[in-house]
Amino acid sequence: MKSIRIGMAAVVLTLTLTACGNSESGSGYHVNQDKEAFPEAIELYNTQRCLSCHATDLEGNMGSKSNLSQIGSKLTKEELIQVISEGRKMMPAYADQLSAEQIEMLAEWLSTKS
Ligand code: HEC
Repeated sequence: MKSIRIGMAAVVLTLTLTACGNSESGSGYHVNQDKEAFPEAIELYNTQRCLSCHATDLEGNMGSKSNLSQIGSKLTKEELIQVISEGRKMMPAYADQLSAEQIEMLAEWLSTKS
């Protein structure tokens, strides 16, 4: 009886792992690809609503001005910190919601996008 139960557990585990594998193997660029190098920044991007306006591929949902896919070649890290802190037009200011360290981590990561 015991070996049958272990066998069942193995099947369930295999199915679970396969399901996870499939859901992550999307095509194209995805911010989660940077998760290993910039874990805090990606966590913030995904949880602080950046994602909803700038999209998972960083190309933006709000017109060309919200495209961050090559932002590292447009803005310096200091300029990135300034935009995220103070906002601009439709872009909300984050100075009251995030710490200076958190904003810097986002700027550090975005400055690698070029
Ligand atoms: C409500 C939607 C919205 C949210 C939420 C949002 N943004 Fe933006 N963001 C925009 C828009 C729209 C622009 C373009 C502003 C303009 O017209 O100049 C922008 C611009 C920017 C820019 C400057 C782009 C450039 O080319 O100069 C950066 C950097 C940026 N956002 C980063 C972030 C980060 C990081 C977060 C999360 C902490 C975030 N944004 C959250 C809408 C948003």
